Amino acid sequence: MIINMNNKVKQLRIALRNCGIIDPQNIEEYIAHDGYMALAKVLTELDPQTTIDIIKKSGLRGRGGGGFPTGLKWEITRKSEAKQKYVVCNADEGDPGAFMDRSILEGDPHSVIEAMAIAGYAIGASKGLVYIRAEYPLAIERLKIAINQAREYGFLGENIFGTNFNFDIELRYGAGAFVCGEETALIHSMEGLRGEPTFKPPFPSVAGYKGMPTNVNNVETFANIPVIINKGAEWFASIGTEKSKGTKVFALAGKINNVGLIEVPMGVTLREVIFEIGGGIKNGKKFKAVQTGGPSGGCLTEKHLDTPIEYDTLLEAGSMMGSGGMIVMDEDDCMVSVAKFYLDFTVEESCGKCSPCRIGNKRLSELLDKIVKGEGTLEDLELLRNLSNVIKDTSLCGLGQTSPNPVLSTLDNFNDEYLEHVTVHKCRAGQCKSMVHYYINPDNCVGCTACARNCPVNAIKGERKQIHEINQDICIKCGACLEKCKFNAVYVK
Ligand SMILES: Cc1cc2nc3c(=O)[nH]c(=O)nc-3n(C[C@H](O)[C@H](O)[C@H](O)COP(=O)(O)O)c2cc1C
Ligand code: SF4
Ligand code: SF4
Ligand code: SF4
Repeated sequence: MIINMNNKVKQLRIALRNCGIIDPQNIEEYIAHDGYMALAKVLTELDPQTTIDIIKKSGLRGRGGGGFPTGLKWEITRKSEAKQKYVVCNADEGDPGAFMDRSILEGDPHSVIEAMAIAGYAIGASKGLVYIRAEYPLAIERLKIAINQAREYGFLGENIFGTNFNFDIELRYGAGAFVCGEETALIHSMEGLRGEPTFKPPFPSVAGYKGMPTNVNNVETFANIPVIINKGAEWFASIGTEKSKGTKVFALAGKINNVGLIEVPMGVTLREVIFEIGGGIKNGKKFKAVQTGGPSGGCLTEKHLDTPIEYDTLLEAGSMMGSGGMIVMDEDDCMVSVAKFYLDFTVEESCGKCSPCRIGNKRLSELLDKIVKGEGTLEDLELLRNLSNVIKDTSLCGLGQTSPNPVLSTLDNFNDEYLEHVTVHKCRAGQCKSMVHYYINPDNCVGCTACARNCPVNAIKGERKQIHEINQDICIKCGACLEKCKFNAVYVK
């Protein structure tokens, strides 16, 4: 779903320009919307270096997470001498809840194909590979249709637009491991090897697929390319901020009224996105935090709401742009549990190759477990921070280097909640079950028996029209009594 409302903060569709507007299975509709004009222009009017200069001048940075300047990456790959080079499109999209790249591939596959061919011309590659997770069957089907149509029209294959440029694209399927989105792991996976990252340098631009120079770009990065060629670097660079040009697609999710995909100019604030485009917090609740950057991004708080969305400002605030996941939390969320939730995802997804990530994250998770069970100490908080910093500094790849971010950012921004957990053993959001107790207020209880009848473990005793009571030794804290009592007699402490 793409949110398209008449908001004060205008959304601007560059990467999503054709999604929902053209029939993605009909190449003629893409052509009618200036499709393949950019490829024709670079092949017939521009030399490869001029093409790269346009992308460099536009200020486009990679939308896959790292924010590396795209034109510079193309230039490095161009300068790497080899018989064969490759253009790879990273369509792994492993962030849970994110679907920016899938939407582009399902809604406008030709924009990515056209951009890959342009990249091939710029860097001197004749082969393109799209690494896409097999869990995206519709995107795969539409890509296949689009690739076949592009071949029929002569936009892929040999002597494209009557020039001596040859380029074709094949698909490679991922099995859904988050780490396989990391470019070196992705390349190993495409080579039929275990999907494990390797140390950089060498970067793929120098030695990538089959040891050859390989330019890896994200789907959204590619989707911007044809428009930049058609409308010019200056036009693109006029959108956004000094260091972050153009727009960014986000998948808005969580406790927010309007969930879905948005595309906004870089530089809009988190407040504008959450309260204007997102329509504010669900059920009139209070905003508590927003997590940007996927599972290893940071949790930002109220004081960050006026932070402009840019690569560098998000990093300074303790989070990151990532590929565009944005999850909003309200007053009912416990930030220690949130940190544990994200950390457990990275523990699950760690490839296990290096010990800081494999063992360190597991130890972090155990410490958090101790804290949410009400058994944590002040020393544990210090240990959490120290270990997080060691994991960040010593892990081999970006997964481990960023995995402690949710822990560190919640320790920084929600320290009072951690302190409450370890000193007074209290979870203010009532989410850490070990610290929560259900009680019945005798002043309100009318003895209707609804709670007792719905308690799955018979923890509630009391006769009809008599005050009821909860046996704390039996209660498993399921919350059913709270939900069933119509007299506000059940409360949580
Ligand atoms: C653990 C991990 C997962 C990643 N997952 C993705 C992904 O799903 N899609 C993506 O484009 N980049 C992902 N990246 C970033 C890639 O390694 C790489 O930087 C990116 O594909 C380069 O393209 P760009 O310059 O256009 O952003 C991931 C990085 C890490 C460390
Ligand atoms: S940091 Fe984690 S995911 Fe990356 S190589 Fe080490 S163990 Fe594997
Ligand atoms: S449902 Fe509420 S009012 Fe009824 S017996 Fe239970 S606590 Fe008392
Ligand atoms: S919280 Fe669940 S288990 Fe405990 S008393 Fe209420 S209904 Fe029974």
